[in-house]
Amino acid sequence: MRTTIIAGNWKMNLELEDALGLAQELRRLVRARVDGEVAICPPYPFLQPIAKALEGSAVDVGAQDVDAHKSGARTGAVSASMLRSVGCSFTLVGHSERRDVFGDTDEIIAQKLRAGLDHGLKVMLCIGEHLDDRESHRTFEVVLGQLDIALKDLTLEETSRITLAYEPVWAIGTGRSATPEQAQEVHQRIRAHIATLFNHDVAGSMRILYGGSVKSSNAADLLTQPDVDGALVGGASLKAESFVNIIRARKSS
Ligand code: PGA
Repeated sequence: MRTTIIAGNWKMNLELEDALGLAQELRRLVRARVDGEVAICPPYPFLQPIAKALEGSAVDVGAQDVDAHKSGARTGAVSASMLRSVGCSFTLVGHSERRDVFGDTDEIIAQKLRAGLDHGLKVMLCIGEHLDDRESHRTFEVVLGQLDIALKDLTLEETSRITLAYEPVWAIGTGRSATPEQAQEVHQRIRAHIATLFNHDVAGSMRILYGGSVKSSNAADLLTQPDVDGALVGGASLKAESFVNIIRARKSS
């Protein structure tokens, strides 16, 4: 049985005081075990104070991205060991905004994923197709192609530290979520592909989250799909109440 994860991606929002307030509210509201796994990805400058504020709580703290390199002359970049040292347990890589706004290619994303694993982080790998890919029936080709490159050098042991997030780009921040059937169709296909890349045990245990306009009103229907193991939530994670409502909508695990 896979434990579901509800993760909040705060993106470039909030300032320190509000960010800490939101974290404190989550600390108060999220209940260990009952609520399964809950995680948030605040912006870099807030990671350390928030990780401190959430120490010993049921909420994990992760970064929104990581640099592929260990250290050195890379102005503005943040390494995996830095993230570990401020209390992050994981990082996102491959978010579509990183791909589309910052030019992260599949190869760069594979290097970032490698850097995260090599420095003891868990990695949440985001994949997803654009609207024109879907309309031209290329969804599987795009999504499975992204997986092939990102996961190509992974050992079996390392697969246990990977979570996938399927986020159709057309659903992110648009208010237009994938239907539960659309999400399930892609998740099922991703899981079958993981079985061919690794084996059935890995495919059966790897969590695949859905992301893209998840809110409290559609969360239950998405989360009850058999291959949807949680949600990566953007906008609705910026308020404790809406985020907690999504957490509470999950299937019992
Ligand atoms: P959204 O963002 O929930 O605001 O659509 C999801 C994401 O980008 O991870």
